[in-house]
Amino acid sequence: MAELTRLVLGVELDPTDVARIREAYPDLEVVVCADPAGLPAALAGAQALVAWQVPPEALAAATALRWVHFPGAGVDSLLTPELRARELVVTNNRGVAAPNIAEHLLAMMLAFARGLPELLRAQVRHEWGRPTRRFELGGQTLGIVGLGEIGEALATRAAALGMRVVGLRRRSGPAPRGVARVYPPEGLHALLGESDHVAICLPLTPRTRHLFGPAEFRAMRRDAYLYNIGRGAIVDQAALIAALQAGEIAGAGLDVTDPEPLPPDSPLWDMPNVIITAHTAGGTPRYWDRAIEILLENIGRFRRDAPLRNVVDQREGY
Ligand code: GLV
Repeated sequence: MAELTRLVLGVELDPTDVARIREAYPDLEVVVCADPAGLPAALAGAQALVAWQVPPEALAAATALRWVHFPGAGVDSLLTPELRARELVVTNNRGVAAPNIAEHLLAMMLAFARGLPELLRAQVRHEWGRPTRRFELGGQTLGIVGLGEIGEALATRAAALGMRVVGLRRRSGPAPRGVARVYPPEGLHALLGESDHVAICLPLTPRTRHLFGPAEFRAMRRDAYLYNIGRGAIVDQAALIAALQAGEIAGAGLDVTDPEPLPPDSPLWDMPNVIITAHTAGGTPRYWDRAIEILLENIGRFRRDAPLRNVVDQREGY
C-alpha cells in the first residue's frame, strides 16, 4: 500500500468537486492552495499535488511528494528539469477535453466553409456581406497530425460529416474509427499534399517543436487550411506568416500561438483568412465532470499501488 494522506489542490476547483474528493476519501486531507506562493507550506507532508506548474521552491519543500497530477493535457510547461530529476509519477487529464476540442476544430473548419470570418467582419461594419469563397466539408479530405484522443474524437466527427479522414501517428496499430489511412511520421508530406484541411493535434515535445516550417507549408495545397490546437511552437510562426502572405496556403485556424498571448502587432490578427481563438478550445463547462473521475480513480489506485491512469511518459514528454 502506498501512503497517501495529504493531497494539495494547486488549482481553482469548484467547491462541489473538492467535496466529491473529500466524500470519496474521508481520511484524506485535501488542502486547497491555488496561490503558487503558498505551495511550499501547503506541500509539507503531502504525497500528491494537482497543479499546472510546480515552482522550484515548492518542489524543494515537497519532500514527501510522489505524484503530480496535471489538470490539462500538454505537460510541456510542467516537465522542468527539476521536476524530471525528482522521478515522480506524473499523470494528466488527457482525453477530458477531446470532445470539445474536436467540436472547436469543426467550428473553425465550418466557419471557413461558410465564409463566417468575412461575414462577421462585415457585420461589425453594419454591411450586408458576401463571402468570396465557400465550400462544403463533405467529400473533402482532413489530415489529422497526431491521433491521440483529440485526433480520434475529431476523426469520428469529421467522418460523420462525410469527410475523408487520414491521420498520422508514431505508434503502429489499427486505424482508429473514421480514419481511412494512417501514415507514419515519414508520411507527413504525403498527408499534407492530399489534405484540404490539416489539423495539428500533437503535444509539444523536442520532436514536434517547429515540425511545421517552410517545407511543410510548401507541401500543403494552396487551397488548404491549417489548424493548430496543440501548442504554438509546433509551428514556426514566422514561416506560417510568410506562407499566408505568399498565398502558399488558404488560411489558418489558430487556437494556440507562439508566444501567448499573441502580441498586438502580429500580422496574424488582421489577416482575413485567419481565425484566432486565444487558447480557448480546451475549455468546457463539463471539464471537471469528466476530469474528477480520473483524479478519484487515481487516488484509489495510488493507495492500492496499482498503475495509475493517464501516466505521462516523461522521456517522451506526453
Ligand atoms: C491546455 O492547453 C492543455 O494542455 O490542457
